[in-house]
Amino acid sequence: MSDKPNRIDDRYATSEKYTTLRGIYHDAKRRLSEIDWNYLSCGTGDEVTLRENTAVFDKVRFEVPLFAGISNPDTRTNVLGFDLSFPAFIAPFGGGEAVFHPEGHLAIGRAAAAVGIQQMVPVAASHSLEDIAKASSVASVFQLTFVGDEGGVLEMIERAKAAGYKYICVTYSPIRQWRERMMEDRFSLRNESGPSNFGPGKSDPAALQELLDFTKPRWTWAQAASVIRRSPLPCIVKGVSSGRDAKAAIDAGAVGLYVSNYGGRTIDRTPTALETLPAIRKAVGKDIPIVLDSGIRRGSDIAASIALGADAVALGRLIAYGMAADGEHGVRRTLELLQREFWTTLGHLGCSSVAELTADVISPGSFPAA
Ligand SMILES: Cc1cc2nc3c(=O)[nH]c(=O)nc-3n(C[C@H](O)[C@H](O)[C@H](O)COP(=O)(O)O)c2cc1C
Repeated sequence: MSDKPNRIDDRYATSEKYTTLRGIYHDAKRRLSEIDWNYLSCGTGDEVTLRENTAVFDKVRFEVPLFAGISNPDTRTNVLGFDLSFPAFIAPFGGGEAVFHPEGHLAIGRAAAAVGIQQMVPVAASHSLEDIAKASSVASVFQLTFVGDEGGVLEMIERAKAAGYKYICVTYSPIRQWRERMMEDRFSLRNESGPSNFGPGKSDPAALQELLDFTKPRWTWAQAASVIRRSPLPCIVKGVSSGRDAKAAIDAGAVGLYVSNYGGRTIDRTPTALETLPAIRKAVGKDIPIVLDSGIRRGSDIAASIALGADAVALGRLIAYGMAADGEHGVRRTLELLQREFWTTLGHLGCSSVAELTADVISPGSFPAA
């Protein structure tokens, strides 16, 4: 880990444009068209899971020890071999026109690098995976949906490796999602024909069509395992929501797990990621790296996730709010404020480092799974 001091500027008085995360949220909402806002914020069905993803963090209560607080806790950690200034990754989210800002994933990568965390880049990115890797020193994980023929997926992984990515984030999508806000808006992606990350070549619209063609047969665990084992890059599996799937992913050769319900965007009435986390951690033991997303909005949400068994979180909509509010600057500020809030949470809980965040910080009975 770097010797870079972990001093956090905790003054309220600042010349920065944004002083709070909710200020960024309100600006994002004000700036986006209603259709784009719906695309970004919607869930599936009645959006029960979407609401519960954030409500579950509201149920967590911390036990705060007296005369045990820490005035300058260390927010740094190392996950999947990456030194992180605090335990977070940028989640692989994409699809929207340049991700709510023309600079898209290039700007997100620059902001993540400035704050010292890593970026997961989706296959449906705003720019080609090569251009993002060139612009961002922290574009290290490439998200790839396993679909089509195995050879094509392996060629895609080769392409990501050649561009400098270090991991593949494996995703799976069997059928289209029921998102009523987008249906009412008759939403259609404006960049559906590009930018080119589908297929081994620079641009292969046919491969994109394959991904979106839900009449094609979807993959089985056996096929996924066969590709994960032959993959030239190590794989983490996203969408894990049970101990059974966690074990299946490890048996298939995954080196890490990504606990997620995709922010309530795939199917409604599924458990929240936080609720499923303790059982998943128990199923795979303490040494398998676990990243968690779906509902992270505050530094205290990061603390709760780590305390209940994650090694790091991933940030989805929160980063999109930063992009929509003010591009690269909005994302950088989001990350700085989030790190600061996480830092004060650690300090109040009496944890001098991320490693000290255990289930002991959760008030007994406040969270059933603790
Ligand atoms: C607009 C949008 C687009 C997304 N696109 C993708 C994607 O292309 N691939 C993917 O793996 N996940 C995608 N996700 C899911 C995110 O990676 C992440 O799991 C989710 O946003 C986490 O929930 P949260 O935003 O409530 O924190 C998308 C999410 C949003 C909001």
